[in-house]
Amino acid sequence: MSKITAAITAVGGYVPEYVLTNKILETMVETNDEWITSRTGIKERRILKEDGKGTSYLAIKAAEDLIQKKGLDPKEIDLVIVCTATPDMKAAATAAYTATQIGAVNAFSYDLEAACSSFLFGMSTATAYIEAGRYKKILLIGADKNSSFINYKDRATCIIFGDGAGAVLFEPNEEGLGLQDELLRSNGEGRDFLQATYGGSSYPINKDTFNEGKHYVFQDGKTVFKNAVFNMADVAEKIMKRNDLTNDDIAWLAAHQANKRIIDATANRIELEEDKVMMNIQRYGNTTSATLPLLLFDYESQLKKGDKIIFAAFGGGFTWGSIYLKWAYNS
Ligand code: UT7
Repeated sequence: MSKITAAITAVGGYVPEYVLTNKILETMVETNDEWITSRTGIKERRILKEDGKGTSYLAIKAAEDLIQKKGLDPKEIDLVIVCTATPDMKAAATAAYTATQIGAVNAFSYDLEAACSSFLFGMSTATAYIEAGRYKKILLIGADKNSSFINYKDRATCIIFGDGAGAVLFEPNEEGLGLQDELLRSNGEGRDFLQATYGGSSYPINKDTFNEGKHYVFQDGKTVFKNAVFNMADVAEKIMKRNDLTNDDIAWLAAHQANKRIIDATANRIELEEDKVMMNIQRYGNTTSATLPLLLFDYESQLKKGDKIIFAAFGGGFTWGSIYLKWAYNS
């Protein structure tokens, strides 16, 4: 009997309507369009503005888009995983609310958090369940409302992040398509360089820390940049080598959209031509857990059955990794 592999069989996505352009940011902090574009590749990002709407709002919209496009009966979904660094609230999984709202009443659900690598690690989790034969339909969502913990007076972070969500469905495949290999890593020594220090269990928020804005996300951009460039390129190169893949074999690189210069460096290391590099950072900025599924959402019509895709991500923690996947359908 041939091994069951786990393949992506549908994609959905959603970004909020409000567009925060570089021009608008120029009126908020001391920055300019030229600096942001040349240092990051970002021109605009989407922000969820409405009060009381959290990450689940984005996740539900992306899931509904997938369900509608695929003609899927949500009652058939076995498991809903929401990958996110910005859950709606503590002690109540965003995934549970999301699953119920989309009608996935027979599913169980939970959140998965590994900063910007959340979705990549979620792909590993979802495929492992399917390969083991435990479940048949897993909805994997990457969703983040980064604007909920960004300080819009801090030019080092507010120019980078945006809000959004993407969703994929994983199902068993008998043609050997889907996830082929993974190389996932983490190093806790990196957490000093990218974190929202207050508001978690180590340092609950109090009046003083709130007034000092210590609940907002902080990053030492240069250190994160260097580690991202080195590690993303390293794992992408290694996974290609151990699967005997050359640049000619690869149809696409789907890299976490944190900074165009980091993506370009990864593509250069594996000697991939520009037209094989998925890129939408110019429109959405860094949407944390949503970058990889939003790439699939934007590029779905160009993907062909059998296309070999290298995924790569790097994020807070530090966490990083690469996945090699064969695309399973023509849309
Ligand atoms: O998702 C995973 C996590 N995140 C990342 O992967 C992000 C990694 N880091 C980066 O993308 C980059 O480090 C940034 C985009 C955050 C910053 O770019 P950089 O090239 O590393 O700039 P820098 O922080 O070294 O700053 C260079 C200069 C500084 O001025 P001086 O000291 O040279 O006079 C900054 O003060 O640019 C200044 N600067 C800005 N100028 C205009 C910093 N931010 C801005 C800004 N607008 N927004």
